[in-house]
Amino acid sequence: MRIAFFDSGIGGLSVMHHALRLLPADEFIFFADEDHVPYGTRSPDEVLRLVDDAFRFLIALDVNAVAVACNTATSAAVREMRRRYDIPIVGMEPAIKLAFDLYGSRRVLVTATPITINGEKIKRLIDRLGRQDYVELLALPMLVDFAERQEFESAAVEEYLRRALEPYDFGEFSSIVLGCTHFNYFKDTLRSLLPSNVRFVDGNEGTLRELARRMNIAPSAPRGSIDVRYYYSGRRIDDDVELERIGKYLRRLDRMIEIN
Ligand code: DGL
Repeated sequence: MRIAFFDSGIGGLSVMHHALRLLPADEFIFFADEDHVPYGTRSPDEVLRLVDDAFRFLIALDVNAVAVACNTATSAAVREMRRRYDIPIVGMEPAIKLAFDLYGSRRVLVTATPITINGEKIKRLIDRLGRQDYVELLALPMLVDFAERQEFESAAVEEYLRRALEPYDFGEFSSIVLGCTHFNYFKDTLRSLLPSNVRFVDGNEGTLRELARRMNIAPSAPRGSIDVRYYYSGRRIDDDVELERIGKYLRRLDRMIEIN
């Protein structure tokens, strides 16, 4: 069984990293659209076109399912991809419901890219939950750029986040939703800026459980090692320098996943 993880960039690794611990499969394909990242500041139509190109490539690789490990691509394109392709396609949306389910009735700060924050999909989700007064939305597009250049803990990252978080009275909040898969790389800096009553919530686990359900497989610790093939916008990545770049992200995620 061959499962693809697709993202505009390197954020999707945070989902695949989790899948390596949770999903039995023979092979994972990781596709980062590195030639076109970021998606979050483009128009939804442009993102739809880019996602369609990526899907054509992945379908030609005969994948059995695609995890759209990108909230932005999900918001702009997943409905259309499901219409076009007859394989399980699982998307991601900011895990706002999970935040209320896990951490109760105080306020939730939802962080994501501008497309996700301004999209219809998130509005519908918040309306459905009936919790409009308890949700604050915050776009953090610069984190995508920082993540892509592996700048995780600099003074610039800290200053950017400190300013962005300054307006909120975190005594009233119980959680922060990481509604962009690139944001998982910054949990250490975020943790140092947020009080301990504010807990992290992301959609990784829920997405993978939904993928397993759609594929009729039981989530479990993988039995053998899973082969992973990496692609940047359709180019196979197998040289040592690029693989080491990817390894650095995965090692960082080993640490980030432990931060709550
Ligand atoms: N990682 C993507 C997400 O989850 C978006 C990053 C981008 O702007 O390209 O939304």
